[in-house]
Amino acid sequence: MKVLYAVSEAKPFIASGGLADVAGSLPVALRRRLIGCRLVMPMYEGIPEEYKNEMRFITHITVPVAWRRQYCGIFELKYQGVICYFIDNQYYFKRQGIYGHYDDAERFAFFSRAVLEMIPYIDFKPDVIHCNDWQTALVPVYYSKYYATREGFENIKTVFTIHNIQYQGKYGREILGDVAGFSEDDVSLLENDGCINFMKGAIECSNVVTTVSPSYAQEILNPWYAYGLDSILNARKYKIHGILNGIDTVSNDPATDKALPANFDVNHIEGKAKCKAALQKEMGLPVRADVPLIGVVSRLVSHKGFDLIKCVLDEMLSDSDVQMVVLGSGEWQYESFFSEAAQRYPDKLAVKLGFIPALASRIYGGSDMFLMPSKSEPCGLSQMFALRYGSVPIVRATGGLKDSVTDSGILGEGNGFVFEDYNAHEMLHTVRRAIDGYADRDGWAILRRRAMECDFSWGRSANEYIKLYKQLIKG
Ligand code: GLC
Repeated sequence: MKVLYAVSEAKPFIASGGLADVAGSLPVALRRRLIGCRLVMPMYEGIPEEYKNEMRFITHITVPVAWRRQYCGIFELKYQGVICYFIDNQYYFKRQGIYGHYDDAERFAFFSRAVLEMIPYIDFKPDVIHCNDWQTALVPVYYSKYYATREGFENIKTVFTIHNIQYQGKYGREILGDVAGFSEDDVSLLENDGCINFMKGAIECSNVVTTVSPSYAQEILNPWYAYGLDSILNARKYKIHGILNGIDTVSNDPATDKALPANFDVNHIEGKAKCKAALQKEMGLPVRADVPLIGVVSRLVSHKGFDLIKCVLDEMLSDSDVQMVVLGSGEWQYESFFSEAAQRYPDKLAVKLGFIPALASRIYGGSDMFLMPSKSEPCGLSQMFALRYGSVPIVRATGGLKDSVTDSGILGEGNGFVFEDYNAHEMLHTVRRAIDGYADRDGWAILRRRAMECDFSWGRSANEYIKLYKQLIKG
């Protein structure tokens, strides 16, 4: 079986979010299970030289973007056994940053078209093209309109994964012909709420739509979660599947992680206390082993639940003996809120604004609990990293958080603390349950062990994808 994994970011080449973690590890897991999986992504300026220097030029072709004919270089690099293709066009990709340019619609229409155009030039005819998020959402649309009956392209199945339905690739109607290269007859495939919507096109045209957790697959049928795509998703419900993401357990391992001041694992936990003391010192908090330390690593945006934290932070910090460390960047309102609060609670709250992967590791490793009260969370990987690093998650029951964390209050099992409603005091109550739980040192050690023993490696999820691909090819 041959799978071409098309994506707009992948670790270790370039990353802006969880998508890059998944793209950097699922293809490797598939290949280990003897599935021929190759990856294709844009050749961004920001890819480190060490990778660029290793790439091999295959050929160059011309790719149509509506009425334009654009240069497309194809480069290749093998990473952990997976052949990765890089689509080169300096006009589109030799820029600062990955997304957020005025012509993103055109850049990713080009990339999506290039994914298909390159197939005759690589020694790999895929059985399945697996696309991810709006940036590659036009691949299934182009395939069904322009390639399905073309010689050399027959019988390719398309899978489209929604990593976050909030970002759909929504543009004015004028791009339909001029940028995306479709005729007025195709408008019903792409139009939603009067806009051209790339994600809608993929939902219509791909053979299967997946999302990154079973709960999110249900939630996106509900208008509260669907950002306007609920009708089309309900109409196409029969092709939606939810498969929980895994994490790369080799590069995210507290036993070997070089960012940690001391390594540890579930049977050699001593190092964790050293990590905690070092983190307190690094962040300027009093170095105390007895106080529960809550970690937060997140983009500071509202769907991650910061409205709730904002509402009860004062109660949380003033009523309990607790410390909190926050790492993230994002919306100004949250950045300024946390910076200001850190000055008012210098012994309790420490905040670092930015995206610093090594500090993120030290927070997973050094904290006792990890707070993630998301309003919506398609999968979420941070709670999985936290579990692996022995930081017990406190989460709201939504999407992948619901599918990976169960409340330890129930039958004395479970791996964390969970609340149901998006309500600040419900969160506060749950944080207090965790703080009370921490006071029972023996009980906490058992809970932490259960958390660390959870297995979120790719095994099970990769097998589910393989099953899905096989059904598709057969069907
Ligand atoms: C997006 C989602 C996140 C998910 C990740 C990988 O970033 O917001 O929940 O874990 O994609 O699928």
